[in-house]
Amino acid sequence: MTEQQKKGRIVTGMRPTGKLHLGHYLGVLKNMVKLQNEYECFFFVADWHALTTKFDCTQNLIEDTKNVVLDWLAAGVDPDKANIYIQSHLPQTAELHIYLSMITPQNWVERDPTLKDLVKMIRKADDESKPSVSYGFLGYPVLMSADILSFNVDCVPVGIDQVAHIEITRDIARRFNNIYKTELFKDAKPLLTNTPMLKGVDGQKMGKSFHNDIKISDDEETTQKKIMQAITDRSRARKDDPGHPENCEVAFEYWKAFASSELVQTVQKECIAGERGCVACKRQLAEIINEQLRPIRERRKYYEEHPELVEEIIKKGDKKAQEAAEKVLQQVRKVVGMYRY
Ligand code: TRP
Ligand code: SF4
Repeated sequence: MTEQQKKGRIVTGMRPTGKLHLGHYLGVLKNMVKLQNEYECFFFVADWHALTTKFDCTQNLIEDTKNVVLDWLAAGVDPDKANIYIQSHLPQTAELHIYLSMITPQNWVERDPTLKDLVKMIRKADDESKPSVSYGFLGYPVLMSADILSFNVDCVPVGIDQVAHIEITRDIARRFNNIYKTELFKDAKPLLTNTPMLKGVDGQKMGKSFHNDIKISDDEETTQKKIMQAITDRSRARKDDPGHPENCEVAFEYWKAFASSELVQTVQKECIAGERGCVACKRQLAEIINEQLRPIRERRKYYEEHPELVEEIIKKGDKKAQEAAEKVLQQVRKVVGMYRY
């Protein structure tokens, strides 16, 4: 498909918080792989956004940034279809952030609901004596608006938790258009990613801080071990007791997420009839998950072993992103009224 035939342009970012897990894979990553065929895509690692909360612990930032790109490529984001770039490699976004920060009323950022939650989280985790909310952190939604408006996109694929930020982006864009009497910025709409909520093996929210997640980059043995820990029907004492798949909190949910519906039906029938023990059931589940992840993990390994290729991909993405953003910024500088020679 040529750029012209695509449905429009989208941009979305992810903070570099470490290696991605199966929850990310089923939700965000599969969606990115689909979208790259339909839209002109800019996918970026939001390393500046990482600094808004972790400015004082940057020792893993480079590694984390590369790992996000590796997981994207592994999952099937195709650098010939989508542009992969690093937020901090785009000076245009930083510049736009300055213009937008000038016109954004202080109370708009202070009432951002997502930030309120984040502030609570940081406060809890933090050492009391340290000031936890910085000037840059308050600008989180403004920086996000700059990410989005740098490309003047039509849509922004995000999870439901980010919708408030897209709304602020639209408010800021409209205010900019009003103040400078222009129609430059479009209304960016959220393109909701329906995130199938995949629980961690212990039944809690999946996340690395809970040590209950399966990573895309885990090896097969680790995956198998973690799956064997998955919570099943807690009321079941012996393997030939009739089971209750609907109460099989984690294992059966994974079956539904990864196996064909025929297979899921078989598992369900055998479980109810007491013909399937949980240990054997999970061993088979682990095999199926490993089988599905095999090509993804192989691709990840290939790119891990060819860091020069990954660098080329990022360079190319950076360049494309810079060119696209520069076009927007030229218009922005002009309507704001900045001196250029
Ligand atoms: N705030 C987003 C998150 O935490 C990441 C992000 C930063 C983003 N800038 C963006 C997402 C611009 C979409 C568009 O998930
Ligand atoms: Fe869950 Fe499988 Fe055990 Fe049934 S047999 S309770 S589906 S793990």
